[in-house]
Parts: sequence; C-alpha cells; structure tokens
Amino acid sequence: MEAMAFAPTTIPQHHRSNGLAQSYPWLTWSPAFRAFAHDLRESGQLRRRVTIGEVPRCKPYGATYRTHLRGLSGTQIKFLTAYAESVQAHDPKTKVIFFRGMLQSALSSRELRVLLSLLREAMIYVAGDEAAALYSPVTPEQRDPGFNLHADLFLTTKLWLIFDDVPGDCTGVSLLLSRKILLKSVRQIPSLPPHVAKEILHLLDRPLKSDSFNRLYGLLHGTGHRWSVDLNEHMKKHVLNIPLRVGEGYLIDDRRWLHGRTAVSRRVSKQRFHRLTFGLRGISAT
Ligand SMILES: [Fe+2]
Repeated sequence: MEAMAFAPTTIPQHHRSNGLAQSYPWLTWSPAFRAFAHDLRESGQLRRRVTIGEVPRCKPYGATYRTHLRGLSGTQIKFLTAYAESVQAHDPKTKVIFFRGMLQSALSSRELRVLLSLLREAMIYVAGDEAAALYSPVTPEQRDPGFNLHADLFLTTKLWLIFDDVPGDCTGVSLLLSRKILLKSVRQIPSLPPHVAKEILHLLDRPLKSDSFNRLYGLLHGTGHRWSVDLNEHMKKHVLNIPLRVGEGYLIDDRRWLHGRTAVSRRVSKQRFHRLTFGLRGISAT
C-alpha cells in the first residue's frame, strides 16, 4: 500500500469567511493512513505505552514522547517508515498547510498520541538521528495569558500542530505572522538597532546548532528592550488569526512564520495540542 501522507479536503464551513483559512490548502489523513491506523488498532498496537524522554542535544526543550518500533510487524514498519518519509516530504515553504478531521471519528486522543510517537520513532530511524524529530509534550497551565508571537527554533524547522483539548468558545485563537511581515516590521522600527535586526534574521536563516527559542523570544519581547513595545504594536496590526477546533491544525516552516495564541478561557491541559517538529535542514535566505 502506498504511504501517501495526506489527502486534500475542503475548508471547514466555520472557517469559510476567514481569509487565512481561504488562502491555503486543507488536508486530512490519507485513506492509506486510516487503513494503517485501523490495522494497528486491530492488532492492539494503539494501546501501547508512551513515555516522555529527553534528547540531550535539543535542550532546554528536548522533551519528547517516546515509544519504540518493537512489536510492529515487518509490513507495519515498512509502511510507517515510508509514511514518515511522505510526511517529511511536505515542505510548506511560505504556505500554511491546514488540517481537519485528524481526531474524533478518525482517532481518539490517546490513539493519536501513540501514532505520532510511532511516527517520530520512524522519522529518527530513517534519519539515523534522535534529534531529527520531537513530539514535545505541552506544559499544562492553570491560567493562560496567551502566547506572544514567536518561532520555536528547535533544531528542526517544520512545525506540525494538531489541536485537541481546546475550548469551543473561540478563545486560544491561533496567531500567525509571516517572516516577510516580521522583517518589514523590524526594518520600520527606528528604535530597533541594526545589529538586533541582523541577529533576528540570522536566527531565522541559519541552521541552528542549539535550541534558540529563548534568544529570539528575548529579542522580540524582552521587557528591557526599548524596541519591543513598538515592534509588538507593528506586528499586532498585521497578525492573522484562526480559531482552530479539535482535530484541526497546521504545518508551517517555523522559520517562515511566527506563531502564537490569544488567552484561553480555561486551564491549558497537556492534551491542548499535539506538536511534532521535524526537518533538520535550515532554509536559504529569501
Ligand atoms: Fe511555539
């Protein structure tokens, strides 16, 4: 069976008037993947235990869900590794690739956790490098003030989120701002020194030797920087948003889009979303 990762689908009715949602493709699980998930379920593999471990090279954000490929049949491993390659071949470049129908009738939260953990194992097996993909656990929060625009700046460049435990009241809205707009904003803020603009550009352009989330976040939002208020006001004027629901998500190139979220009306659970990052190569400057 061919391991095509995803199948095209239509934009959900509730996002039809959202400009961001209209501008980009919408995908869902491919029939081949659904058949594979069914096969795993039937053979009891979706009930397997998933643990959390740490990839030392990815510190300080090197935590990841883990499992192992043991217990899968040769055919299942063959499909999974081909599937991992097919997922990794999806390069969104400057696009946002949206997803729907990834949970509920397709899969339970727990089953998705197992499947994405297996997918991560297949990705690192294919790459021969445990830093090639991370399935990062979400940090639960009692009160959530939202999350300012940022890039994750893991060693990997592609960021795939599938939303799960999200409130149905349109809080915790996903925010996206393109790199193009960020760089335009950076150039237009007189209080932002050229060496800072250059460092922001370098962080987004160059393959990273270590996790650089903290460095970029500090430059964009650090309270000690005189430019951060101006920069945030500028970005706020151009930010795009979409209230993604359970089973919906997106895949972006983390170096080409900043992402964030508005405040959530209730506590953020560890089931809020599933986040798989992969793709070790950097991008060329544009
Ligand atoms: Fe993030």
